[in-house]
Amino acid sequence: MPARSTKAGTPATPPDPTKLKRESAGRYVSGDGRFSVEQSSGGWMVSDAEQSNELGLPLVRGPFATLDEARAAMTVARRGPAPISSLTDRIAARRAGARSTATRAPAGAAVTTPPPRPEPPPIVVREYRSGDGPPLRALWDAVGFRSLGDDDASLRALAQRNPGMLLVAVRGTQAVGSAMGGWDGRRGWIYHVATMPDERRSGLATRLVRQIEARLEALGCKKVNVIVRDGNADGAAFWEALGYSQAPARQFGRELSG
Ligand SMILES: CC(C)(COP(=O)(O)OP(=O)(O)OC[C@H]1O[C@@H](n2cnc3c(N)ncnc32)[C@H](O)[C@@H]1OP(=O)(O)O)[C@@H](O)C(=O)NCCC(=O)NCCS
Repeated sequence: MPARSTKAGTPATPPDPTKLKRESAGRYVSGDGRFSVEQSSGGWMVSDAEQSNELGLPLVRGPFATLDEARAAMTVARRGPAPISSLTDRIAARRAGARSTATRAPAGAAVTTPPPRPEPPPIVVREYRSGDGPPLRALWDAVGFRSLGDDDASLRALAQRNPGMLLVAVRGTQAVGSAMGGWDGRRGWIYHVATMPDERRSGLATRLVRQIEARLEALGCKKVNVIVRDGNADGAAFWEALGYSQAPARQFGRELSG
């Protein structure tokens, strides 16, 4: 915005942002409008319009015994890291179940460690249940897997024919991993091995596959096959890491009309 001009045509000096302007008895506002300072029974309170506490209200610092101390607090606030109000300290301390460990900076600009982030729920690996269809399909959409047989009725039928082999890894309400095994009496098959990107390289897919392999072995299965799409280098690397080797064969298929 261009600087305002005086009547004489010379540019006006921009207002000093740090200077306090008296608005009424016991109330001042900083030149840039960021801070308002009000006298209360306990001293001077500084309200900061650019920072809010956890309740979304302007951050308040103080009380300060003198107006000069309030000014010093504003200077610290302008320079320092994002200060947090004593109200925020109290909320954090209550959440942590302990007294706040806040270290107070001079002139009321309190700095504290943020409250601890809640731990994510643990991953649980379990068998497929009715109701798992939507979170599983969300996982498969996320990894780019979708094929015939992903509907609820087909999943239920697969789970019933192959007890203990349709595995879902859940974290809270989200499906973060899947693997589906099937035994046709001659070969075992494993389909839809997938893990959410955030959960990768922590052994989750291995755990799912090994669990299905153990189940297939217990049924007398001598060989297990998987299908890896052309171009899926990560998928191929995963299966090779687990001891699978590529067969010199091509896969053919035909959809049957239902
Ligand atoms: C492939 C996929 C299932 C692996 O899941 P994951 O949970 O990361 O697998 P794991 O942590 O059990 O990995 C076991 C080993 O496989 C190998 N591996 C896994 N992902 C790999 C990758 N992207 N590149 C190279 N090697 C990989 C590694 O040797 C790994 O061991 P390490 O982490 O100690 O090095 C996962 O990346 C995914 O869902 N991809 C998209 C879907 C897909 O392609 N599925 C398989 C196709 S059939």
